[in-house]
Amino acid sequence: MKPINIGMIGYGFMGRAHSNAYLQANHFFDLQYRPVLKAACARSADKAKEFADKWGYESIETDWRKLVARKDIDLIDICVPNNLHSEIALATAQNGKMILCEKPLAMNGPEALKMVEAVEKAKVPNMVWYNYRRVPAVTLAKRLIEEGRLGKVFHYRANFLQDWTISADLPQGGTGLWRLDVAAAGSGVTGDLLAHCIDTALWLNGPLSDVNAMTETFIKERKHNLTGKVEKVGIDDACAFLCHFTNGSLGLFESTRYARGHKALYTFEVNGEKASIKWDLHDLHRLEYFDHKDEGKLRGWRSIHVTDHGGDHPYMDKWWVPGLQIGYEATFVHQVADFLDGLAKNKPAQPDFRSAYQTQLVLDAILDSAKGRKWVDVKHG
Ligand SMILES: NC(=O)c1ccc[n+]([C@@H]2O[C@H](COP(=O)([O-])OP(=O)(O)OC[C@H]3O[C@@H](n4cnc5c(N)ncnc54)[C@H](O)[C@@H]3O)[C@@H](O)[C@H]2O)c1
Repeated sequence: MKPINIGMIGYGFMGRAHSNAYLQANHFFDLQYRPVLKAACARSADKAKEFADKWGYESIETDWRKLVARKDIDLIDICVPNNLHSEIALATAQNGKMILCEKPLAMNGPEALKMVEAVEKAKVPNMVWYNYRRVPAVTLAKRLIEEGRLGKVFHYRANFLQDWTISADLPQGGTGLWRLDVAAAGSGVTGDLLAHCIDTALWLNGPLSDVNAMTETFIKERKHNLTGKVEKVGIDDACAFLCHFTNGSLGLFESTRYARGHKALYTFEVNGEKASIKWDLHDLHRLEYFDHKDEGKLRGWRSIHVTDHGGDHPYMDKWWVPGLQIGYEATFVHQVADFLDGLAKNKPAQPDFRSAYQTQLVLDAILDSAKGRKWVDVKHG
């Protein structure tokens, strides 16, 4: 197995999820490459050291610029707030290293395009962590659609609902709360949550042609942790939009951090001429399927426990025995395994930067539409 030396930037939620995936991938998948946890980077040396010790990184850096220039690093993993993705990715591409970048790829379409051009010019392998494509039930949904089981698609519906920012006392900015600070996040639920829904939708149902969106910021001012002052909130707390897909189907999407009782309720449903599918992150190993050609007296929604082997259920033969389910963290393991396999076979894994750029163009159209209170055509990159 050829080693790939990883330089990890950020030690938060995603820093942990990805580190776990690098450690697990070769235990479950037969791969020609093996990730080596070479260096972890954080601004605080103490925090970087604590993280490195816990996960087994060999060294630390406190300046990402030094990390991306290090000769012993092959791949940079960007797990920091959205406003830092572009600068780090551009510097990494210039240094000729592979890049795995967290989503959303950038703050907006033009910034994302520069990142796409940089990785394509430098010819460095690249990928964006839209990990929900690799939930086995979601991958199975993709296969069912590709097999033509749904027939012509009429409707695509997705929600991503949370409830963690309802308190007006919650400050914005800084550690753990950068998602509420528009300067760090770029947008609110649109770039944070709908980005996932859009990536999955583009993958399952193809391009969007136009959108009509509304956004709302329920709490208009919050104390800013970095300045100590009460400042205007620039992010969207909720966003809903309608769209047309180029295949003629209609889309309906909703995302909010104000749906009391919902923690991370990502759901989607696709209704076709012959069949429908639906999926729910809170029950991620199940795919609900309705097939109109079933015999009348037995026809109904079936709940497929996506845990079987024999090649029928994506990824599952790599894990435990049939019937035993896997969790959220496995989606990142699958993404690492697919990336490394793509390198070995010279068939780059998706979504790469160019593919994630398309999601960014949809996000731009949504925000434009909400601002201008009008239908907006989606640009295609
Ligand atoms: N794929 C997914 O499902 C998913 C889930 C959560 C977050 N994300 C994305 O991952 C990224 C990180 O989110 P998170 O939830 O891990 O955030 P987090 O707040 O948990 O962690 C962010 C990390 O970035 C570090 N950081 C900030 N500025 C830095 C700098 N200048 N140099 C080095 N480190 C710096 C922080 O110290 C922290 O370790 C975001 O782009 C987010 O949108 C994706």
